[in-house]
Formats: sequence, structure tokens, C-alpha cells
Amino acid sequence: MLADGDDVLCVDNFFTGTRDNIAHLIGRPHFELMRHDVTFPLYVEVDEIYNLACPASPVHYQFDPVQTTKTSVHGAINMLGLAKRVKAKILQASTSEVYGDPEVHPQTESYWGHVNPIGIRSCYDEGKRCAETLFFDYHRQHKLRIKVARIFNTYGPRMHPNDGRVVSNFIVQALKGEPITIFGAGTQTRAFCYVDDLIEALVRLMRTPDEFTGPVNVGNPGEFTILALAQKVVAMTGSNSGITYLPLPGDDPAQRKPDISLARSALGWVPHTDLEAGLLKTIAYFRDPGLRAA
Ligand SMILES: NC(=O)c1ccc[n+]([C@@H]2O[C@H](COP(=O)([O-])OP(=O)(O)OC[C@H]3O[C@@H](n4cnc5c(N)ncnc54)[C@H](O)[C@@H]3O)[C@@H](O)[C@H]2O)c1
Repeated sequence: MLADGDDVLCVDNFFTGTRDNIAHLIGRPHFELMRHDVTFPLYVEVDEIYNLACPASPVHYQFDPVQTTKTSVHGAINMLGLAKRVKAKILQASTSEVYGDPEVHPQTESYWGHVNPIGIRSCYDEGKRCAETLFFDYHRQHKLRIKVARIFNTYGPRMHPNDGRVVSNFIVQALKGEPITIFGAGTQTRAFCYVDDLIEALVRLMRTPDEFTGPVNVGNPGEFTILALAQKVVAMTGSNSGITYLPLPGDDPAQRKPDISLARSALGWVPHTDLEAGLLKTIAYFRDPGLRAA
């Protein structure tokens, strides 16, 4: 966006993010950083809002589950209130978790989901579902211009080494020569999207005509078992890590794969980075901390 000549205001409370990730932008004339928690109202002047604030990995969102729900729900109310006040367009980073442990495969946007409302993942899943409800109610009631993206597993450089998500976990463990921890038998499947592809989809979504609101799935439909991912990471890092199997936590979905037909037709978008190419860049980042400043 800075390269396109936009003014960018980055708002973060640094709960899971770090200043290091944007250190290279600080000092640029069109970039501004503000430490702020979205559960509190925000008064600024903007044209577009990308609402990405939320801890996204189970270890982080389960650390303070009440705050996680507040971030999704109060955060959405505050950002929607801001969008209403300044007549901004607003995009919500929703999630494939709104589908829960799906009974329909692959998941299309018309599927309403299979979500446990009282489990350990519910603070995240139900928080994001309620945020979607708020977006659509602000759209119907206040004519707000909204865009809702349902993001499937996305990974890449600048993830926190202790983020706890499967791709970064496996890479960090493999590079340290520690055992790779798999929850369950590793037969559960996931589809992994490289971050640059995702960002391209979000920017395209923001530029769609006002009548297009989504929700729209964004992710890479290539489906892999967790065991296959572990084996790929071990092979690509040249590690001699073994695999340790741990009990499966509650409500872990058995299958995940986006149907991206809508993204293809409405955004003219498909992901271009396959798992191997994305892992190569992500492994290079975790191998060389110097790349973090690039
Ligand atoms: N990466 C994925 O696989 C994935 C999948 C589905 C949805 N998403 C959504 O995309 C968004 C970005 O996720 P990410 O993977 O980049 O995770 P991330 O943890 O790297 O980014 C989330 C950011 O939100 C900030 N944040 C958290 N609570 C906040 C609060 N109350 N106020 C202000 N800032 C706050 C964090 O400090 C962090 O910088 C999240 O909303 C997440 O739910 C991500």
C-alpha cells in the first residue's frame, strides 16, 4: 500500500505482533504506527479499514479467552463505529474456523458451520462468527460498505517463532533438531496459503464494487495431512528430527479445504505459491534472523 502511494496507519496492541515486523517502515513519511487496543474506541480519519486485529493461534487466543472474544466482538463494534463515522470501507479478517469441524467438504461460503459454542476454541470461533453478524447488521442497518474474507490457514515469514501454529512450529522444531509434535495421528488435513497470496486477495477484495460484501473464502485449496507437512518440513530443512505424537485437543477439525470458486470469479484471484515454494521462503526466514529486518 505504501508502494502504491497510500497513507498507512498501523494500529496494534502488540499482543502477538511485534514492532520488529514493521521496523523497516517506521520513519517512512506515509507510515504511522499507533499502539492501541481495538476493544477501546478509536477516533482517526481513514478511508479504508482492514480489521485484522485478533490473536489467531490457539495458544494465544486461549491464553485469555475473554479478551479474545472482546477483541473480535468489541473490536468489530469499535471499528464498525469508526467506519460509520468517517464513511470508510471496512474489511473483516474472518476465518475458516466459522465452519467449525465441518460436515461439508470442501467448505463453500453457503455452509453455516458446525461449531461448538462452549468449547476451548469457541472464544475464537464464536467471536469471529459474531463479528460477521455485526458486519452484516451494520451493512443492512447503516448501509456500511463491508467486505468479509474467510481466511484459511496462512503462513509465511514474520510469523512469531512461538506462534504455536503448525507450519511455524514444525519449521522451528526441525531447525532446532527437536522432535516434531503432532497432535493426534496426523491424518487431519489442512490447506496452507502463503501470505503474499492472501494479501493480494484482501487488497482485491477491498477494491470490489460496493455491492460485493462476501463472505468469500480465501486460501489455498491444496490439501495435505499434518503428517505429510511434517515430513516435508523435515526433508526441506535437512533435519534429523523425529516425530512425537500427542493427544488431540478438543474440537480439532478433521478436515479443512476451501472452495475458492467465489474468490476466483469475484476477485479474479487464485493463489500462485505452492506449499514447497512457500515453505522454502518461510524456512529461509526462520533460518536467518537477519532476514527479519528486510
Ligand atoms: N493466519 C491465519 O492462518 C489466519 C486464518 C484465519 C484468520 N486469520 C485472521 O487474520 C488476522 C491476522 O492474523 P495473523 O495470522 O496475521 O495473526 P497475528 O497474531 O500475526 O496478527 C494479529 C495481530 O493483531 C494484534 N492484536 C491482537 N489483539 C489486539 C487488540 N485487542 N487490539 C489491537 N491489536 C490486537 C496482534 O498484536 C497482532 O499484531 C486475525 O484476525 C486472524 O484471526 C488468520
